[in-house]
Order: sequence, then structure tokens, then C-alpha cells
Amino acid sequence: MILAIESSCDDSSISITDIKTKKLVYHKKISQELEHSVYGGVVPELASRLHAEALPKILQECKPYFKELKAIAVTTAPGLNVTLVEGVTMAKALCLSLNIPLIAVNHLKGHIYSLFIEKETSFPMTVLLVSGGHTQVIEVTSLEEMEMVATTMDDSFGESFDKVSKMMELGYPGGPVIENLAKEGDEDRYAMPLPLSQSPLIAFSYSGLKNAVRLVSLEAKKEDHPDIAASFQKAAVGHLIQKLKKYFKTNPPKHFAIVGGASANLYLRDKIETLLKPFGARLSLAELKYCSDNAAMIGRVAIEMFEKDMFTPLDEVKTEPRTSL
Ligand code: KG4
Ligand code: ZN
Repeated sequence: MILAIESSCDDSSISITDIKTKKLVYHKKISQELEHSVYGGVVPELASRLHAEALPKILQECKPYFKELKAIAVTTAPGLNVTLVEGVTMAKALCLSLNIPLIAVNHLKGHIYSLFIEKETSFPMTVLLVSGGHTQVIEVTSLEEMEMVATTMDDSFGESFDKVSKMMELGYPGGPVIENLAKEGDEDRYAMPLPLSQSPLIAFSYSGLKNAVRLVSLEAKKEDHPDIAASFQKAAVGHLIQKLKKYFKTNPPKHFAIVGGASANLYLRDKIETLLKPFGARLSLAELKYCSDNAAMIGRVAIEMFEKDMFTPLDEVKTEPRTSL
């Protein structure tokens, strides 16, 4: 069995996965959403302190499995440095005391492997990763072969939902709040600009759209909020669809997947399904509970890395806040 730790942002999570069956044996996550909500976003130092409290509590419950552990996996990149360090410190201590190796896992690979938890799928696939920190299109061939083919020039997709929610004082995380509010709104009431619509680039940008929402919300009343949320969501998702359409002209999809916290957005899932239909492409999605950050996805990558002896010596383990894949 492999014990995996995730602390890259505001979720403290530990999982235990069976090596042979690749099945999840134990999984717990303590989210800090409530604590950060009053600030409208994640406060790194607060997140770090909360991880220091939560991770040892969860670990207590894992003690019965200690004898069966063959490795400890931990997210080392990318993420907030002060929070990554909390998980890495715990992982190192466990490796030393149990005399087992460490597997350093990239958080983005974790999101891609969330597709394999309690589900069957296969590579190759084109992945849209949409989270609080990332908006990327990735061509995935295998565990080791992942190529990022498009990314954001500024804010990420999830982050734009968080910022719009903050503008309307609706709390953090903004994604689910805005998605729900949008259901009651008229998405055609406000004409929001479609980012980079005249640009030939296959890239994303959310800062202009965010500012357009800010201008509209300055004049708006509370009863206008559902229409603002719906109009914003239409443009935010429309931008993804427009750029994917352009990308598909030269790279028609056969197998597509959406991962990351924002892949839980049902409006987005629906629009992607429609986009894929003419191509007859297969769509893979993670279980809703494994879309946002969790240790089960880190453990699932670690199983593949374990089989390939991809261990990191303890004195070489380092956190890399800004690394990509
Ligand atoms: O993957 P994740 O848990 O953490 C990161 O790695 O960033 O993603 C969290 C992000 C937040 O920005 C949150 O607002 C966004 O995902 N999110 C959503 C939805 N659910 C979560 N964005 C849009 N619609 C949603 N339903
Ligand atoms: Zn994430």
C-alpha cells in the first residue's frame, strides 16, 4: 500500500491506495474553505497553519495501515510553497521512521490521474485542466509523456470565478457559488467580451473579462447578480470553447478529458460534450468528488511511479511552487 499526502493549496488530504488492485483503501480530506472564505481567497500563511493542525489528525487514523506501507507519496509541485512544505515534512518523517522510499508527485499529473480513481480510462488523450491555478490543454501520451499545448496568459479559469464571486461578496471558492447563481440568471443580459477572440493564438486570458465584470457590477444591484453570474459564465466557458475549436482544426480530438477543480462545472461539461459531438470523440470525466484537490489522485499517480521505481532520495526532495508538468 502507498500513503499519499496532498497539501498544495487549501485542502489537507491523505489517502492509502493498494498497489496490486490500485483501489483506494482510505481517503480523508479536510478543506479550509470556510476559514479562507472571509478573505475572499486563500491566505497562504493561514493555510500552512491549518495544514499543520489537520494533517497529523488525519494521519492518526492511518496508523493501522503503517505496517503494510511500501512507500510515501507527496505533492511537491506546483502549489503554495508554505503549504507544500507541510506535506513534504510529514512525508520525509514517515519515510525515515518506516524506512520506506518517497515518491514526489506533480499535482497536475495528480489531476490527470483523478480520471482513474474508481473508473477505467486510457491514454492517449487531450486534457483540459481547469483549476484555481491552471488553465491548460495537455496532450497526454503516458505517465512520462505529457505536453502542454496551451495555457493562460494571466488568471486561470477557476480563479476568475473566485474573483467574480469576491466582487459580489459571495465568498470563496467562487466556482460552485457562481455556477449555482447563474442557473437563475439570464446569460444574454450583459454582453461580456470574449477574450482573445480576434487573436490567432491558442491561449487563454481571463483578466480582461474579470475587469468587464467589475465595471458591470459597480453599477449593479443585488437582484442583477444572477444575470451577471450567468453572463460571465457564458463568456468564461465560451472562451475555452472558441480556443478549443481552433485547436481541433489541426488536432481533431479522439479522446478528450476535463480535469481539475473547475471540471465539476456542469455548464462547462455540457458545452464540451456538444463541442466533441461532431468529432465522435470519447469524453472522460473524473467522479465529481475527485475533481477538486485530494490525496486519492496523488496516490493513484504514485502507484504508476512505484511500478517504475520512480523514487526520490530524501535529501533531493524539494518543493517547486511554479513548476508545470
Ligand atoms: O483543483 P482545485 O481544487 O485547486 C487547484 O489546484 O487550484 O480547483 C479549485 C478551483 C477554484 O478556483 C474553484 O473556484 C474552482 O476550482 N471551481 C469551479 C467550480 N468548482 C470549483 N469553477 C467553476 N465552476 C465550478 N463548479
Ligand atoms: Zn488542484
